[in-house]
Amino acid sequence: MFEIWIISLVHAPSILYLSADEQGRAAQFRFEPDRVRYQRSHSALRAILSTITGVDPLALQVDVYPHGKPYLLNADVHFNLSHAGEIALCAVADVPVGVDVEYVRPIPEWRDIAVMIYSQQECAELEATPAVQRDLTFLNIWTRKEAIIKATGEGFHSDLHLSGFSVPTVPAPTVAHLGSVAIAHQPYSLAAFQPADGYLGAAALQTDRPILPTLRSFNAV
Ligand SMILES: CC(C)(COP(=O)(O)OP(=O)(O)OC[C@H]1O[C@@H](n2cnc3c(N)ncnc32)[C@H](O)[C@@H]1OP(=O)(O)O)[C@@H](O)C(=O)NCCC(=O)NCCS
Repeated sequence: MFEIWIISLVHAPSILYLSADEQGRAAQFRFEPDRVRYQRSHSALRAILSTITGVDPLALQVDVYPHGKPYLLNADVHFNLSHAGEIALCAVADVPVGVDVEYVRPIPEWRDIAVMIYSQQECAELEATPAVQRDLTFLNIWTRKEAIIKATGEGFHSDLHLSGFSVPTVPAPTVAHLGSVAIAHQPYSLAAFQPADGYLGAAALQTDRPILPTLRSFNAV
């Protein structure tokens, strides 16, 4: 199983599935749009995991690994969440998975960021990219690297040097498998896709199998 659920955060669902902890976290957001985004994405996550596990949405037990990656207790199902703009993505798989979505936008500081966290090969490809395509190439690299670090669960606390590995920079059609990248002797299979107009998505799966994710739309009730 390797599914990417595309969740629209625009429409208010009639039911929200949130644990007491999640309600508490939602209440801490200072800005209403952030709170709404959190509530809708986490409620959708519970609804999706419920259809996959057969467990009631509010009976699902979620804990977090030391570096912050949430995981499901008592179920052999792996998931990861990402949000940007008006959508969230929920990746679900039977092995560790990471997902990232970014809104396509101008990145004026692309060179400064790239020098800090992209590999020499990625920086060279970015420099060689025609200016009109540079933002897209920058974000292709970003989503793919981020999906990999989210699959490892390391996040910001990572000992993993982001500049120490390279991802393919090619544009992806609707959905494409881009090969695998080895991190600490562990292969991560990489897929890139377009979850919606104006957005780029990438997902990494802890396997050497060339698997394409199934893209699914989540419709809140
Ligand atoms: C959480 C993190 C992994 C991603 O944060 P982000 O890009 O702001 O946000 P996304 O929307 O893609 O993902 C957030 C979700 O990832 C999940 N998450 C949190 N920590 C995680 C971790 N260590 N590993 C995987 N997933 C994690 C959570 O579900 C979180 O959603 P929530 O806050 O609503 O619960 C962040 O801690 C981080 O390390 N970012 C690295 C940024 C970076 O330097 N990227 C370089 C790319 S080249």
